[in-house]
Amino acid sequence: MLKNDLLLRTLNGETVERPPIWLMRQAGRILPQYRKVRASLDGFVALVKNPDLAAEVTIQPVDELDVDAAIIFSDILVIPECMGLHYELIEKKGPFFPTTIHTRADIEKLDSGKQAAERLDYVYQALANTSQRLDGRVPLIGFAGAPWTLMCYMIEGQGSKTFSKAKSFLYREPAASELLLDKLTETIIEYLKLKIANGAQVLQVFDSWSGVLDQKLYKKFMIPRLRQIREAITEVPVILFSKGAWFALDEIAALKPNAIGLDWNIEPSYARSIVGDHQVVQGNLDPCKLYGSVADLELSVEEMIKSFGRNHIVNLGHGVYPDTPLDHVKHFVSFVKGYRY
Ligand code: CP3
Repeated sequence: MLKNDLLLRTLNGETVERPPIWLMRQAGRILPQYRKVRASLDGFVALVKNPDLAAEVTIQPVDELDVDAAIIFSDILVIPECMGLHYELIEKKGPFFPTTIHTRADIEKLDSGKQAAERLDYVYQALANTSQRLDGRVPLIGFAGAPWTLMCYMIEGQGSKTFSKAKSFLYREPAASELLLDKLTETIIEYLKLKIANGAQVLQVFDSWSGVLDQKLYKKFMIPRLRQIREAITEVPVILFSKGAWFALDEIAALKPNAIGLDWNIEPSYARSIVGDHQVVQGNLDPCKLYGSVADLELSVEEMIKSFGRNHIVNLGHGVYPDTPLDHVKHFVSFVKGYRY
């Protein structure tokens, strides 16, 4: 039995007393407890592959920040890994793929589907451990990268401001792009199903780099795959977060996700005018607002909650930054927890 089921009630469209709150990238990054665990191991990937410690750092923000949900500590890049494309995390730089996708033949060689997803046993064990240790305190969120965001890293090999190599692949090799996106979609679906089987009670799909595309590309290549994913997941609520995809908000709403994640580029009133008042939305405080004064923060948060109205999950518009003052993050959470509609 869940002790705090506010997030689930909100996702199911029930009338609740206040909006639930959790933060994208709450596990890791900002917590000194995380850095301590992280330093005890040889690198980030070792932590991702250690189910006991992954469970520990997943629960840290629930203890320390008192958020209404836990999100499993892992990374979106485990999917390329299980398909045969190895990744590393370079300190202070970010993800790095020693081998990247150049041709259709490279894509044909990739494993996919159930066979690939079953290799991620350490993720499923981390979920099972976490769910046991959480003992129903708050719901456990599982996640996956969306096909496009994963394709970005598999072609680019690292982060990028433009992801122009990946985007130009869509124009140069549309058919091979479709094949890659299909293989990713198949794998993501199997992966999410296994996450549910191991204790994930909510799933969020992160399309972090949708904002580099335009409406035509997003509609042609990405919406159909997001639809496949959305339709395949019937067991638990699904949150779709397509960062920067304001141009596709109507298409995303038509997929009927349980919630739509929004970034700070979208005004609440604009979002409501497209998706309506009944659609649950999640977001969208600019994480930089956490660096300003606590008084200004309270004003912004209250304004945000009032403009979205009901059917809203409070979150940031993207992940919390590593050097955010921890006391401001805690204040943000407690302010929302004290709010009443
Ligand atoms: O939200 C959570 O707290 C759960 C854990 C989580 C991580 N990555 C841990 C992590 C989640 C949900 C992710 C998703 C992820 N990973 C995304 C989508 C979300 C987003 O922010 O858009 C993306 C694009 C990645 C790829 C990735 N992994 C990047 C760009 C980086 C380096 C920079 C950074 O700190 O995010 C990573 C590494 C990573 N993933 C870290 C953590 C805590 C930092 C590793 C460290 O140095 O300890």
